[in-house]
Amino acid sequence: MEESYLKLLENNKKWVNKMLGNDPDFFTRLLGIQSPEYLWIGCSDSRVPANEITGTQPGEVFVHRNIANMVVHTDMNMLSVLDYAVNVLHVKHVIVCGHYGCGGVLAAMGNRQFGLLDNWLRNIKDVYDKHRSELNAITDETQRANRFIELNVMEQVHGLSQTSIIQNSWQNHRSPSIHGWVYDLGTGIIKDLKVLMDGMEDVSGVYKLDEK
Ligand code: CO
Repeated sequence: MEESYLKLLENNKKWVNKMLGNDPDFFTRLLGIQSPEYLWIGCSDSRVPANEITGTQPGEVFVHRNIANMVVHTDMNMLSVLDYAVNVLHVKHVIVCGHYGCGGVLAAMGNRQFGLLDNWLRNIKDVYDKHRSELNAITDETQRANRFIELNVMEQVHGLSQTSIIQNSWQNHRSPSIHGWVYDLGTGIIKDLKVLMDGMEDVSGVYKLDEK
């Protein structure tokens, strides 16, 4: 039986040698401090690795990934990552990056039952329902899916702006900025959806929390 996972450990040794060849202090320098400027909230999809597609190195991006890059306001995992990134690491930018062809979003568009996963997909279905008149008007299935993927990213950007973590940080430091991006699996290109949110004036209604 071929132990394919062993290849990963061999690759690791090669990678270490390559990195040390370029910069003998690479690892020792990272030992002391972690100070990334970016928090990445992306999809777990194996084809969308945060560092690789943004040309960033270890130490540069704090990463949270889940199915369909969701910001679910009761998700302790996401909230803990966000709290640490904002209040301890003081990241300057939070990036929600979705991707066209996202299996999670496509599954949420349909009616098939998947089991436990349906409870996660439910959050994405709510996005569809909110935008159903726009989405249902798009007859081409791929175009509808692509638009849904973009709207889903935008909703997660809004979701971040509705957290007390982000709002308190905006009140105190006017930081971080929140961005919504979509990665194209077919071309490798990231599209900026230009939905930047960076202050309390971007929050409205019942979502706007009083200063603490
Ligand atoms: Co995905």
